[in-house]
Amino acid sequence: MAHSTPQAPFFPEASAIPTSWLYEAFRRANEREHRAGPLIKLHVGEPAFGPPESVGRALAEAVLDGRTRYIDVQGLMELREAISEKLDTVNGIDAPADRLFVTPGSCQGLSALLRTLAEPGAEILMPQIHWPVHLQQALLAGLRPVFYGLDDTLAPDVDSVRAASGPNTRILLLNSPSNPTGALLSRERQTRLYELASERGWQIVSDEAYEDFVYASEHVSIASLERGLDPSRRLVNSVFTFSKGLAMTGYRLGYVAVARPQVCDAMRMVQESSIIAPSAPIQYAGISALHARESIAGNHAFVRENRDRMLPALTEAGLLPALPGGGWYAMADISSSGMTGEQFAAELLHKEGVAVVPGGGFSACPEFGADGTLRPLRPGGVADGLVRIAFCADRDQLAAGIERIVALVQRKQKEAR
Ligand SMILES: Cc1ncc(COP(=O)(O)O)c(C=O)c1O
Repeated sequence: MAHSTPQAPFFPEASAIPTSWLYEAFRRANEREHRAGPLIKLHVGEPAFGPPESVGRALAEAVLDGRTRYIDVQGLMELREAISEKLDTVNGIDAPADRLFVTPGSCQGLSALLRTLAEPGAEILMPQIHWPVHLQQALLAGLRPVFYGLDDTLAPDVDSVRAASGPNTRILLLNSPSNPTGALLSRERQTRLYELASERGWQIVSDEAYEDFVYASEHVSIASLERGLDPSRRLVNSVFTFSKGLAMTGYRLGYVAVARPQVCDAMRMVQESSIIAPSAPIQYAGISALHARESIAGNHAFVRENRDRMLPALTEAGLLPALPGGGWYAMADISSSGMTGEQFAAELLHKEGVAVVPGGGFSACPEFGADGTLRPLRPGGVADGLVRIAFCADRDQLAAGIERIVALVQRKQKEAR
């Protein structure tokens, strides 16, 4: 009898999905730091600036006042109303409080959204070079990821999105500005993608975590294209965070503006079953942060100056075709060193004391067995010869790190001659 074989191996689907290479880079850097002392950290998106001071005070006051009880699964009404106003004035999105979810970081919001939208056999279209957490989330939701190609600025290519789609496509995932490439989607291209999604009946998930860091043009929220449309016909589910523009990375606070009332009902259940409700005191800090949005301009200027002053060393060395149009990251092509991103990042960490993330983890492509089970996921693919550099870091550290990256590539090129 099946139940009398307790030794039978048990491999849940999740065991085929490794923790991401971002986490691996984080772990290796911590281990190296512990063993050999301080490092230049260009691997994680942890900015050199912090949240507005008032945010910490609002959090402490909420805790000390005892505003620490369970609240609505969608979040505090006062915070949702403030978010609704921000979305209206800043993003051009008309999302009332009842279609908003406050979430413990936008990461949890994305994960809940994908679980909400998933159907058996459904495919999700994702960029060929993607944030590995999007891939983990899609797989955990039971979605089948299908990748679309990028143009020479690494922005999603509309023809490739069309070509990658099929009868099982249900969701189009967009991330502008992109982690890891910094590529931007123009208004014109978002309009074409919106029209395609509308024609085919797809839902769109738009991850706008880096909305405040657009340098080459202005940030465009794709949901603004369906402003005024009856919610029951909308396509765009937009995801935002307090982690980037307001530097509240460790607070874990984000929000999702859901397209349709039916999606909202389903997501309420997903959230109830996963978190019951987001943390109340953190949300009071969020209300205070929305009143301190003027700090974003200084944070934007800081990262932009890092980009403009420090990244040209990479372009001049032939490692970066152009400065990223947005975001916090640049993907440097170190393949002329004769090494893979993985080998390069390891040598850079151990010999030069600089942490970056190897590119292969951003272009991993899952494979499935004939019975539909996921094969163990491995890094690799088009970004194998790249490394990701976070340029939101302290300026002197960034300068020193980039100098060592360029020097290591040049040394390897010389050795090969
Ligand atoms: C593209 C993208 N989306 C979402 C997130 C999640 O941010 P958080 O969970 O801190 O809101 C990140 C964090 O690095 C990100 O890079």
